[in-house]
Amino acid sequence: MGQIQMNTQKLLDTARALVANDKGLLAMDESNPTCNKRFGRLEIPQTEEARRAYRELIVTTPRLGECISGAILYDETIRQRTTAGTLFVKVLTDAGIIPGIKVDTGAKSMAMHPGEKITEGLDGLRDRLAEYARMGARFAKWRAVFAIGDGLPSRGCIEANAQALARYAALSQEAGLVPVVEPETLMDGDHTLAKCGAVTEEVLRTVFDRLCGQGVMLEGLILKPNMVLAGSSCPRQEPVDEVADATVQCLLRVVPAAVPGVAFLSGGQSAELASARLNAMNLRFASRLPWAVAFSFARAIQQPALDIWLGRDTNVKAAQGALLHRAKCNRAARRGEYTA
Ligand code: 13P
Repeated sequence: MGQIQMNTQKLLDTARALVANDKGLLAMDESNPTCNKRFGRLEIPQTEEARRAYRELIVTTPRLGECISGAILYDETIRQRTTAGTLFVKVLTDAGIIPGIKVDTGAKSMAMHPGEKITEGLDGLRDRLAEYARMGARFAKWRAVFAIGDGLPSRGCIEANAQALARYAALSQEAGLVPVVEPETLMDGDHTLAKCGAVTEEVLRTVFDRLCGQGVMLEGLILKPNMVLAGSSCPRQEPVDEVADATVQCLLRVVPAAVPGVAFLSGGQSAELASARLNAMNLRFASRLPWAVAFSFARAIQQPALDIWLGRDTNVKAAQGALLHRAKCNRAARRGEYTA
């Protein structure tokens, strides 16, 4: 078999495995500044060792592999080991969890576009992907962000980020890694749900246009979108079913049926609401969804555990219990069986 055919089969297998058996992804790829910010709020030391200990807590959670198909790591984390000396990648793989890696280098202020960001990280990406693949990563994530505001997002911001997403996705597939393509329309602001729906639709339409333009194989990628929600400071917050309906309606319009899975980010929703909304989508639309509707949450899985851990060894077991609980809730939500 040629290299391209081998890669194709590998990509199809990995993409399918990431959304198989009602499982989903655990995002634990916070950059050091983001992780430190979350630690800082809870007065946890903002050190490499504290970040390592916290990630050890996560990857060694007993039975996590029953609910989690893949875990997204960060460059620091993929090189780290447990106290006993085992690489996190090995701990995950042994637990049946596919290791993945965040490969963008962050969203930076976009030139000539006040209030908007462009995600960087394309330079040297081919070499970094090859290194991550050698280290055992099987998928790669890239996040682009779109703020809603007066006249925002601009076409310039949407197009530049969509193009970068498509180039990273093509490079990832070339390296045999499944791209987890994350265009995030942010919740910040007082915009309505309808506005979020319109922006999300425009963003996703452009992203898929660019993905096709770069020759990306749709069957070998996972889309990681936001749910369609009113802004977090909008006085009207729609009930769970309306969020589910608006989100599914938007995705059905723009996400090709060839894509094997949609795995939502949580974006600052509470853990309970994220699960309830995911549940409603699977419950109400089970027979109409051409792709698996799954999760790739960071905060909505981790936050309750982090609030318990607080950097103390004595809290590890309880924190792992809370982490596993959220993972189980989200697996139930994939079946439409979640109850708060
Ligand atoms: P949240 O679920 O906390 O939004 O994080 C998802 C993620 O991976 C952001 O890049």
